[in-house]
Amino acid sequence: VDELSVAVVGAAGLLGREVLDVLDSRQFPTGHLRLLGTHRTAGGEIQRDGRTDKIALLGPSAFDDVDVAFFSAGPGVSGEYGPLAARAGATVIDLTSRFRLDEVVPLIVPQVNVAALAERRERNIVATPSAVATALAVVLAPLSIAAGLRRVVVSTYQGVAGAGRRALVGLSQETVDLLGSRGTRRTRFARPIAFNCVPQVGAVEPGGATTHELRVVEEVRKVLGEPSLALTVTAVRVPIFFGVGIGVTLETEQPLDVEEAAQVLRTAPGMVVHHGETDAYPTPADAVGTEAVHVGRLRPDVAAEHGLALWIALDGVRTVALDAVAIAEFLAREQL
Ligand SMILES: NC(=O)c1ccc[n+]([C@@H]2O[C@H](COP(=O)([O-])OP(=O)(O)OC[C@H]3O[C@@H](n4cnc5c(N)ncnc54)[C@H](OP(=O)(O)O)[C@@H]3O)[C@@H](O)[C@H]2O)c1
Repeated sequence: VDELSVAVVGAAGLLGREVLDVLDSRQFPTGHLRLLGTHRTAGGEIQRDGRTDKIALLGPSAFDDVDVAFFSAGPGVSGEYGPLAARAGATVIDLTSRFRLDEVVPLIVPQVNVAALAERRERNIVATPSAVATALAVVLAPLSIAAGLRRVVVSTYQGVAGAGRRALVGLSQETVDLLGSRGTRRTRFARPIAFNCVPQVGAVEPGGATTHELRVVEEVRKVLGEPSLALTVTAVRVPIFFGVGIGVTLETEQPLDVEEAAQVLRTAPGMVVHHGETDAYPTPADAVGTEAVHVGRLRPDVAAEHGLALWIALDGVRTVALDAVAIAEFLAREQL
């Protein structure tokens, strides 16, 4: 595979740094590497494993001669510079929410719908889902193929890393303040997060669901190609730094017992199934630093005719970065 010229927009951010890590660890054929940021970080350096790269200021000419551009600087930046990068000849891999539900932009989870990458040609932009939608798509796709999905009910337990680097500092400060009986500074979240759970990720929309919850539903439907999938999500921010837990109860169209479900999941890509020993279940802390979507606590849900309950744990930041790089690897193999 020839070397590709790579740009990372938002390189100093949590997700941008993770993308750089994954490019290194997977030995992606990176030729020229262009790191891009704001006035705050431009001019600074990112050091990793004996390599130092400077961050440049994002601007209209930043994408000349770039083959693949990862965007992780927020939806506004992707909206402004993504199409510009694509017109300059780069294939854009957007990790923000900006193009996820855009009809002419494919939304890709490599383990599930990599064939849809062909649809990128119209805009030269590929979108990746949120971490929660990615994990749900990885787990639900094989179950849907095996037995059909009648209804899926989801509750999430999301660490603050999903809200970016400053949210990590925010949780740390709140925790220290509370332990020191100093009250708390203003929180970054809708409510205090230290020693609390906040059932609001994103803005509350008319009707009561949050933006994040509504988006997860639409993203999973799009990746699975099931536009009317009956899926409902309650997303909760919890006071852990990294990692995500997801509780899922679902009802299949056809009967699928627990052992059959475990077998279906074991043979599907991207998952580690913890099943068989009485205490074999993964926690977010176990999943942090790993590259798989972990599934455990597989059991019958007796409240439904073909009911199944399960638990998912993953490192959200890692999973999203890994999938974005996996998409770039597919493109590199077919030379974009
Ligand atoms: N964290 C996750 O688990 C996760 C998962 C999926 C998707 N995402 C999405 O990815 C995006 C970034 O998330 P994050 O967690 O990495 O956030 P973050 O840690 O806050 O990093 C955002 C980065 O974007 C840069 N940036 C912001 N505005 C910019 C501009 N106008 N020009 C150039 N760079 C700009 C910031 O640069 P400065 O440092 O210079 O301010 C910062 O380095 C968000 O849209 C988020 O929703 C995050």
